[in-house]
Formats: sequence, structure tokens, C-alpha cells
Amino acid sequence: MWNTVLLENKEGIAILKINRPKALNALNAEVMSDLQDCLTKIAADAFIDVVIITGEGDRSFVAGADIGQMQPLNAEEGAAWGRLGQKVMTMIENLPQPVIAAVNGFALGGGNEMAIACDMRIASEKAKFGQPEVGLGITPGFGGTQRLPRLIGPGRARYLLYTAEIIDAQKALEFGLVDMVVAPEALMETAMGVAKKMQKAGKFAVQQTKQCALRGVEAPLTTALEFEAQAFGLCFSTEAQKTNMQNFLNKNKK
Ligand code: HXC
Repeated sequence: MWNTVLLENKEGIAILKINRPKALNALNAEVMSDLQDCLTKIAADAFIDVVIITGEGDRSFVAGADIGQMQPLNAEEGAAWGRLGQKVMTMIENLPQPVIAAVNGFALGGGNEMAIACDMRIASEKAKFGQPEVGLGITPGFGGTQRLPRLIGPGRARYLLYTAEIIDAQKALEFGLVDMVVAPEALMETAMGVAKKMQKAGKFAVQQTKQCALRGVEAPLTTALEFEAQAFGLCFSTEAQKTNMQNFLNKNKK
């Protein structure tokens, strides 16, 4: 359906692959356009419970925005490209379904920004992370200056953002940039295992919990607690809440 993005639905778990392996899955205008289409489709698909994002091939998740395409841009075009990237990363972040980044190799620049727009990150031991933009004479532009400090704290984020240092998966784990590191051959199986755990839980409850976690970051605590109270209340109007709690009660009677 798309040239640069592959989408497969494995029993309710969508696997979205960035598919430009010859360019280490660098994000050019075509990938961005395909991604917008694909993410719109995923968001509206009631048969997708969890999304896993990964890169095609065994070398790279996403090696950043396409440098060849960016090099000739002027200031206005640069800002437009940055805004487009921010929009796509926010579409990933705002998907109703939980999103796992299965980081199979390089996650650099826009690639790291894509990984941190996901709900969680599982990395292959071969993965490499960084924000090399300052070395190219630009700032990170797809949300990295904002999402990275929120995720790993200002000190470590500024270290990565200002030095352009590339770190390995183990260091990324120490930094809190990834949540798990596994052998390359176990990456997709581990991501599927995590996805299945979420699938087993109540779908509405998981999606509401994601909304609370997302919106809470932006809001003062009292407002965020009110989001939580509303989401909690809404769950009591679902079949899943009644059935799952009754099942627990029945089990305990035996
Ligand atoms: C375009 C890229 C690319 C990129 C790799 N390629 N990264 N093309 N944009 N970001 C292409 C190479 O040109 C090459 O194409 C092929 O992929 C293989 O890459 P090599 O460099 O030959 O591989 P290797 O020597 O193994 O080095 C891997 C690498 C290196 C360390 C990942 O490719 C690299 O440093 N890439 C750039 C990483 C980066 O700086 N990313 C941040 C970009 S800025 P050919 O045709 O020669 O085989 C960014 C900003 C986001 O993301 C915000 C914008 C607003």
C-alpha cells in the first residue's frame, strides 16, 4: 500500500516498519507522507490493540531525517520540515493504542525522536542512540529538545543533545532512554510478548490509562488527577469492568 512503510496486523498487534533500508531508514518526505497515512489508518482501526514500530533490515531503526534532502533547505523550508516532523511524532504519541518502539539498530536524530514519541522502548543489544544534529549545524527538530528532557531528565538529555554523542543500548538503559535490552534475535519476540500482555488487559482501560499518562505530563497535578478521576469513572460504564471484576469474585468463591 505504501513504498516506505510496511504495516502488518498480527492478531491485533500492528507491526509498522520504516522501509528504506538502503538509506538506513532515513526519514524523507515520502516516508513522512506514508507515515501520516498509515498512522491515520491505525488510529481508526478498532482491530488494532497495540502498535510496534521498528525498522526494516538488521542495521537501523531510523538513522535520522534525510540529510541529502535537508542540506539545500532555507530557513523557512527548514521550519516547515521541522513542523511536519513534529506533527508526525505527535501522531505517533497520540495514537489511542499503546506504542512500543522495537529499536533494532541506529536510532539517531529523528530516529531517536521517533523512539521517544512511543510509549516505551525495547532495544536490541546492537542498537545505538543519539541526537547528532548539533554536529550537522542544526538543532534537533522533531521534538527531541522537549521530549528527551521530559523522558530522561534535563542533565542527561542536555548531555546527549549538546555533545551529539552516540551511546550504545546498555548506556541507553542506564540513562532511562530504553526500558529493556535484549539479544537482536529476541527483539521482536520480546516486543510481541509485551504487546500481548497489554492485549490481555481491558482495551478501554489501557487506552484510558495512556490518555491519562499523556495528558497528565502537560497539566498541573490537580488537573491531571481530575483526568484520572474521569477516566476511572468511565471504565465503570464498560462491560469489561463488570465481567472482569465478576470473574475475580467468582474465582475467589471456589
Ligand atoms: C540520508 C542516510 C542517513 C541520513 C544513513 N544514510 N543515514 N541518508 N540521511 N540520516 C545513508 C548513507 O548515505 C548511505 O547511503 C547508507 O545510508 C548507509 O550509510 P553509511 O553511512 O554508508 O553506513 P555506516 O558507515 O555504517 O554508518 C552508519 C551511520 C551513518 C553511523 C548511521 O550513516 C550516519 O552517521 N548517518 C547519519 C546519522 C545522523 O546524523 N542522523 C541525524 C540526521 S539529522 P549510500 O547511498 O551512500 O549507500 C536529523 C534531524 C531531525 O535527524 C530533525 C529535522 C528537523
